[in-house]
Amino acid sequence: MTLAPDELARSFERRYGRSPRLFRAPGRVNLIGEHTDYHEGLVLPIALERGTLVAAAARDDRVLRVHSASAGADGEVDLDAPAVTRRGHWLDYVEGTARELEADGGPLPGADLWIEGDVPVGAGLSSSASLEVALALALLALAGRRAEAVRVARLCQSAEHRYVGTQCGIMDQLTSTAGRAGHALLIDCRSLALRPIRLPEDAAIVVCDSGVRHRLASSEYNARRAESEEAARRLGRPTLRDVAPDVLERSDLRGPLRARARHVVTEIERTRRGAEALAGGDLVGFGALMGESHRSLREDYEVSAPELDALVAAAAGVPGVYGSRLTGAGFGGCTVTLASPSAVPRLGAALSEALQGGFGRRPTWFVTRAAGGAGEIRPPS
Ligand code: GLA
Repeated sequence: MTLAPDELARSFERRYGRSPRLFRAPGRVNLIGEHTDYHEGLVLPIALERGTLVAAAARDDRVLRVHSASAGADGEVDLDAPAVTRRGHWLDYVEGTARELEADGGPLPGADLWIEGDVPVGAGLSSSASLEVALALALLALAGRRAEAVRVARLCQSAEHRYVGTQCGIMDQLTSTAGRAGHALLIDCRSLALRPIRLPEDAAIVVCDSGVRHRLASSEYNARRAESEEAARRLGRPTLRDVAPDVLERSDLRGPLRARARHVVTEIERTRRGAEALAGGDLVGFGALMGESHRSLREDYEVSAPELDALVAAAAGVPGVYGSRLTGAGFGGCTVTLASPSAVPRLGAALSEALQGGFGRRPTWFVTRAAGGAGEIRPPS
């Protein structure tokens, strides 16, 4: 599905009888730095050209009336009624985002909302963050309020913690609010300092969706987070950002906790080196780090899946591919591959072959550039 803002505005007018304002927020794909954000580590994502579009107009009451044609869904949140948490479906994002904005800056007006998105759901490309952020910008604008990128990202993250129940880090929401066209964003999740790194022209970013979805992805995610936090506690440090690789090496931490800690500690270091490699145009060096990242996610953090391993292995065998790894939380979802643009057709064929031959599944893949961050896409008329 491609988003057509004008068409959405017209559909909105037909349904609600007035003109909306339109807001867009991108999904993201992470190039390296996985499961490091909640340890205040480093991440290196780009904002996607795909995202969520929200058409919105204020109402006189305090009801959020939501429609999505592509999701075949309608729902309502009454902001004067007691808050509902963890229904287990998409309305949690709407409820959570609105309630967090109200807790932060006071009551919001009700709104008629139409939401459409083209980020595949549950694929590790942050469809949920893009929904939260697009909605947050819409609701803030209708209330005549403004908030800077980091604040919006934090409120959306908090909505996800409290109303959805995933104890996510800040990467997805912050990439969606602060993405920079043509650049990857090196985010220091401790200081929240952002360093845009221009992507070389001769590198194509290919995202491949395995189609695998893990029913327990959110609880598995929370479990990994809890284990790695326990590892930090046993090492006597507040987070794994505070643990140097040699300190972990010498420690007597054993078993799965040692492996979890090893992933986070080495991944932070890989991300630091990866950012320098990318900034210096060293695509071969960057690609090698992507391969190490995938190995670490598979063996130490145990968040890969056979389909993702097969896609990564297939990509690695294609001439002109620099590197490939799973992206996002894992447990299914997508891989990201960095390749010379001329290698893309062969890469696509190899990815399809690997998944169809090995698993009888047909992957979907696409090439993306780095897009800009969220915002209003049409000024009020
Ligand atoms: C999910 C979370 C992020 C991050 C990644 C793993 O996308 O929402 O905060 O932890 O997983 O890197």
